[in-house]
Amino acid sequence: MCDRRSWEPWDEPGIAKKIDAYWMRDKEVLHRKKIAEDVRDKLGLNVPILEMGCGSGRVAQELFEIGVTDVASYTGGDNGKAMLALARVRLPNAKLCELDVLNLGQGMVAQNVLCVHVIQHLPYYKKAIEGLLGVATESLYVVAWFGLRDEIVADDDRWWGAGKPCYENLYNLDTFVRFGLSQPCVYRADITPLSGKVWSVCFRKRTDG
Ligand SMILES: C[S@@+](CC[C@H](N)C(=O)[O-])C[C@H]1O[C@@H](n2cnc3c(N)ncnc32)[C@H](O)[C@@H]1O
Repeated sequence: MCDRRSWEPWDEPGIAKKIDAYWMRDKEVLHRKKIAEDVRDKLGLNVPILEMGCGSGRVAQELFEIGVTDVASYTGGDNGKAMLALARVRLPNAKLCELDVLNLGQGMVAQNVLCVHVIQHLPYYKKAIEGLLGVATESLYVVAWFGLRDEIVADDDRWWGAGKPCYENLYNLDTFVRFGLSQPCVYRADITPLSGKVWSVCFRKRTDG
């Protein structure tokens, strides 16, 4: 069970469906296709993936489509029950479970961890990145909004009509990358601009112990 926090609107009535419908617009579809291609360029094909904050399964759908991973090698985690319910419809045979990026269990391991458009909605990222890098044995691929300085923006309760605020942060890219590189076994960060304020950062970990 994951506790709900005051700044998590994802399970409020109707929100998950509304946002999923938005993600099906052309621009958002193309965006997630681009992310999937970027993951392919960085990780290759037929790789095992744990996606944290998988939402309604839109990124996974695109990853499956181009062969980056498949239903047998993919696990999706999210702490939003409504999002997971939509993912179960979109990806009927995939392993999907309730997981909290800010409270990852001890002993969880995954070769490649993905976290797309999640940390920008948290009030801070260090705890999540530490946890995700603790789980990843080879790579952590993150997509978020980045800029020249940290802009912590708590959007008010009109956010998507959820009646609850949500963070819509921009993080300083340089500070973020330095933080990841300071974590145990991380030796490299591959940084790619995707569009506007959206960047991907793929942290690589040494696997030679
Ligand atoms: C903007 S959506 C992105 C969904 C998906 N990654 C995509 O790009 O299509 C953010 C997702 O992160 C999830 N999320 C937010 N906080 C989380 C947390 N602490 N642990 C796990 N998932 C979280 C939300 O439930 C939501 O599904």
